[in-house]
Amino acid sequence: MNRYLIKATTVGALGGLLFGFDTAVIAGTTQQLTEIFHLTPSTLGLTVFIGLVGTVIGAMVSGKLGQKIGGREALRIMAILYTISAVGCAFAWSWNALMVFRLIGGLGIGGSSVLGPVYIAELAPAKWRGRMVGMFQINIVAGILLAYLSNYIIASQHLGAAEWRWEFGVAIVPSVLFLIMLYGIPRSSRWLVTTNRTDEALKVLELMGSPNSKAELQEIMDSVHMERGAKEEPLFTRRYALPIFLAISIGLLNQLAGINAILYYANSIFASAGFSSNSAALQTVGIGLVNMLATLLGMSLIDRMGRKTLLLIGSVGMVFALGGVAAIFYTHTHQALLVWLLVMFIVFFAISQGSVIWVYIAEVFPNRVRSKGQSLGSSAHWISAALITRYFPVVVDKFSQGTPFAFFAGMMALQFVLVLFVFPETKGRSLEQIQAQFGIH
Ligand code: GLC
Repeated sequence: MNRYLIKATTVGALGGLLFGFDTAVIAGTTQQLTEIFHLTPSTLGLTVFIGLVGTVIGAMVSGKLGQKIGGREALRIMAILYTISAVGCAFAWSWNALMVFRLIGGLGIGGSSVLGPVYIAELAPAKWRGRMVGMFQINIVAGILLAYLSNYIIASQHLGAAEWRWEFGVAIVPSVLFLIMLYGIPRSSRWLVTTNRTDEALKVLELMGSPNSKAELQEIMDSVHMERGAKEEPLFTRRYALPIFLAISIGLLNQLAGINAILYYANSIFASAGFSSNSAALQTVGIGLVNMLATLLGMSLIDRMGRKTLLLIGSVGMVFALGGVAAIFYTHTHQALLVWLLVMFIVFFAISQGSVIWVYIAEVFPNRVRSKGQSLGSSAHWISAALITRYFPVVVDKFSQGTPFAFFAGMMALQFVLVLFVFPETKGRSLEQIQAQFGIH
């Protein structure tokens, strides 16, 4: 692999590191924020929720933005939003100010979740695309792990009332680095073609080490259908029905596995199973680590076994793990198994849905509507993430600890059936071949 390609991928994926960090960092701050700002359960819920509202808006608008000004430029805006959010949260003068800066951070997260994978998918050669877009997911889980670790370390420094400011504030460093690095990478070749800059596109293809850059350029030009003014092509037409269905369903099912409910409430899940709060914090770091390792495993498999096989294996593993957790909470027996079942869940999620989601959403759409399509799939993911994290505690309170897990298990059984009968395999095919396979010309 050529070093420009690796560099561009790494920078594109860094948006994922901040995505992971910014979503998970809240877990360590909620207790202090509650004391300092006298939060009620409802305003505390809003504190967590507001960032997710930002992600939904960010995901919805960034597709259009990326298409208009290009992914690289749009990512620079996201890096600025991340920086404003980190500085603002660290120096927030009131709870209202904190809310505004969390919302701004959410915009950056949602936006990067669209722009990062699209940018990488458009540069990556077919045979490595899974692994390369997968770098985005590796960065997300690395960001989650970093946030858990950094919270754990900062909490042990006894910084008193300033603790939460430090926890949010450390994100300033990666945000600024991200912004600087975004000035050292090229624009995406496919985006250049959609805006009629074929000479520049050819240069980028050569820079990225394409073995036959002229032929590749031709293939991209053919698929873009420049003569039809493809830039303004609407997404919601019959011909894109299958990719639209795939992107929305994979985005929804990703969250219907319960991953973020489990990641954000890990501490309280462990506590309700009888662990002390200190050991719960450490278990949370452990969960972050397992997630990271299993994601690396997923990446090594995605281009060999394919997206579909991984999703099928993952669904089966998750049904058993989630079903087991539900059974433990319903029967109040075998509590010692809880940690292991959650670890099993994380492993099966990470090698399947976790590894596949961002890759699959990016590759099922043709060039001319990819940004918009990614926005759609990503928004479906963030809307369900927001609703599930908001209502998880409510469902536990109204029904039982077991109810949400039984529901998540059911959803993963549904995922198995859908993937088996509807999801096409996309590994090893160029983005243009995938379109042809879907019958989109
Ligand atoms: C996927 C999900 C994201 C989640 C992460 C956990 O990226 O889309 O929401 O936090 O996996 O590993």
